[in-house]
Amino acid sequence: MDFISSKNIFLLTRDTLKLMDGRLMKHGSRVAYILYKMLQTWGGCEEFEMAEFAMLATLHDIGAYRTSDLMRPLSYETRDTLPHSIYGYLFLKHLSPFEDRAKILLNHHVSFMELADKGEKDYMTVTTFLSLAECVDVYREALGERFSVSSFRPFEGKRFSKQALDVLDETLAMEPLFDMIEMDQHEIELSELMDNLMFTNEEKKRYMEMIMFCLDFRSRMKVKDTATCISLCDQLAGEMHLDQRTQEMLYYGALIHDIGMLAIPKDIIESDRRLTDVEMERMREHVPITRRILESRLDPIVADIAARHHERSNGTGYPDGLDSKQMTVPEKILQLADAVTGMINDRPHRKGMPKEKVRQILEQEAQDRSFDPEIMKVFFDHFDQIVDTAIIQGQESLKPNAAVAARYEKLEKAMAKMKAK
Ligand SMILES: [Fe+2]
Ligand SMILES: [Fe+2]
Ligand SMILES: [Fe+2]
Repeated sequence: MDFISSKNIFLLTRDTLKLMDGRLMKHGSRVAYILYKMLQTWGGCEEFEMAEFAMLATLHDIGAYRTSDLMRPLSYETRDTLPHSIYGYLFLKHLSPFEDRAKILLNHHVSFMELADKGEKDYMTVTTFLSLAECVDVYREALGERFSVSSFRPFEGKRFSKQALDVLDETLAMEPLFDMIEMDQHEIELSELMDNLMFTNEEKKRYMEMIMFCLDFRSRMKVKDTATCISLCDQLAGEMHLDQRTQEMLYYGALIHDIGMLAIPKDIIESDRRLTDVEMERMREHVPITRRILESRLDPIVADIAARHHERSNGTGYPDGLDSKQMTVPEKILQLADAVTGMINDRPHRKGMPKEKVRQILEQEAQDRSFDPEIMKVFFDHFDQIVDTAIIQGQESLKPNAAVAARYEKLEKAMAKMKAK
């Protein structure tokens, strides 16, 4: 899969999550940098492993997007630490290629002593380094000038491992870590480190799907919509016998076409009433936002497929009012698929439309030439089969997120019980 480099997958993931809350990703970047420098001092990892751990560290609080009040980071980082640790762990374990390494997130607020008592063995060094790096950043941000790493030493062997504290001291003696952070140089170094990421095609696919699953942090409805839309695109592209590469490009364009929605307030996305003009303007911003974050990261053909999904063949679409001649077949397929998705899936103010009504509306649209006539013909020729399959595949798509939510509830109860003992 050469539409995106491994490094750009990292940058795209970070930029996507920044759309919801920039501060959380800034904290993630600082923690990732401190961890990276500690791992470098320690010397037990290859460059590509350090890059992968730094990527994981950037995402270490990803669960907070779902579980916590993002306005109160001190609270979920210092007192109520369980929910975001558990959700982040489950999200990455089940919806990304991090799998077993996701456990590092589960334990990032657990004390060294507790981990040692539990006999925890997997990724102990990285976990204890991350745990210290995270505290350094949280307290440094909160205390400013008054912060000193020496204040952690009394907790050696209890909250923090001796090894982590020693490695941090050694690192700080060699490198002006905090000055680099103050001058925003750490992001540049992290970005250079990410040149060492080497994902397989399968991993790239799964990371791109993880980015799509992030839509769930704002709106589960959007995850289902995306899956329905992908199914419609796949089927239409198949019936039209598009070549393999074009079909793949269409798949990735459809996968992330609404990623800019993460910047739009949930009450606008899921409004159960007609949006005001101002709200509608805000909603439409998801398209230029999608383009902005995809543009420098992804193959331009795929970025165009994604960012033109609200254009129309008769020039009435947005944001650029392009006409049919200016657009490609996969772009036009996604336009139709996205519009049909909006009709067949439930909306907060109405149930999904019956097939007959969808057909009627599309016949009108065909007269207005909103969509490409050739694609419309293929769609009408296989209408029932395509719509029925898309509805089923849309419902199926909710299973992974729902399974993560169910496991989260179970695990949270079990861990809260253990803590109460
Ligand atoms: Fe954190
Ligand atoms: Fe945390
Ligand atoms: Fe959209």
